[in-house]
Amino acid sequence: MPPSAPPEWADAFRQVPRALFLPERVWPYDRSVGAGNAVDRTSDPEAWQRAAEGDEPVITQWDDGAHQGVAPGRVFSSSASAPDLVADMLALLDVSPEARVLEVGTGTGWNAALLAHRVGDANVVTVEVDPDIAAAAERALVRAGRKVRVVTGDGAFGVPDGAPYDRLIVTAGVRAIPAAWLGQVRSGGIILLPYGTPYSGDDALLRLTRREDGTASGRFRGQARFMKLRAQRSPTPTSPPGLPFRDFATDVWPPHTPWHPFAFIAGLHLRGAAHAVQEHEDGHTHWLYSRTVPGWTAAVRRGGDEVIVRQAGERALWDEMVATHAWWSELGEPGIDRFGLTVRPDGAHLVWLDEPENVIAPAATPGR
Ligand SMILES: C[S@@+](CC[C@H](N)C(=O)[O-])C[C@H]1O[C@@H](n2cnc3c(N)ncnc32)[C@H](O)[C@@H]1O
Repeated sequence: MPPSAPPEWADAFRQVPRALFLPERVWPYDRSVGAGNAVDRTSDPEAWQRAAEGDEPVITQWDDGAHQGVAPGRVFSSSASAPDLVADMLALLDVSPEARVLEVGTGTGWNAALLAHRVGDANVVTVEVDPDIAAAAERALVRAGRKVRVVTGDGAFGVPDGAPYDRLIVTAGVRAIPAAWLGQVRSGGIILLPYGTPYSGDDALLRLTRREDGTASGRFRGQARFMKLRAQRSPTPTSPPGLPFRDFATDVWPPHTPWHPFAFIAGLHLRGAAHAVQEHEDGHTHWLYSRTVPGWTAAVRRGGDEVIVRQAGERALWDEMVATHAWWSELGEPGIDRFGLTVRPDGAHLVWLDEPENVIAPAATPGR
């Protein structure tokens, strides 16, 4: 049982083992090094069981099912999440024993089974976009003795004929919160999802409360990283060749280490851009790509403090990054949990600091 599981979930974690929901072939994932080769239950039952009972995520599908073979594929497209993250999310969902819950992203069916153990089979609806994954989850749920409704379809539309829900939990990363979710959760209900911007692959758990007026608002609750909803993947753009550029030196160097909160927070402020970090033996490069007008920037620091910047195209992306870093520093370097989001039924997403009234203005972005 994950140590972070709250007491009211302990029995569910004891009675509903993750191993019951995993396919014969899995790719164990190590959060510090990434995915390894596949482990097959028939050829290596001990390694399979270790992965199933371990603390790490287990990948169950690559490349939307197109990938075959034992090596990792390109993009992982289904998994059973890490038990501690599953427990954290269930704790944040704050369900009562008779709550009606919609899950978007059935995956293996494990989370749906945990929910069903707590609130009853009839109160759980789960929706999965991939027909093969949905069918496998349905079989696993039946094997585990659960009668949960599994819907095959795009969870961005919710499942209207099961609404209203008291709780909606999304187990895939979201870049734009669909209005359908606001419409299908009752007033006072909770929507819990991993939210992030197209700036990076980072997500943070966002716990929204649906208000009487049809909006939903709430705070970020700590970082996570999820595979994204299929229609909301935003691959990093490339740097188009041939753009006019200028080179200059600076000593400004925003934080770049993995899981540093600035990477997520920068995306809330610096809109219409994508960011990646390249590691060198003796330093790093911050890459920035425009998602609006053609443009990219590479800022390289090797060894000492000097940073060499090449800024190409119509956007001064490095200047925007520096302004975003200055904005964050002047605020006293607030952490992720001081930010929140309000979503309106018209699709507007308003990021705020400390209080919903204090909406932050995104950095000025040419070409938007
Ligand atoms: C991290 S896995 C979910 C883990 C799952 N809750 C479990 O207990 O195993 C994310 C799942 O979301 C699914 N997904 C992606 N986009 C979706 C969409 N638009 N609607 C429904 N499911 C989606 C993926 O196919 C994948 O199976």
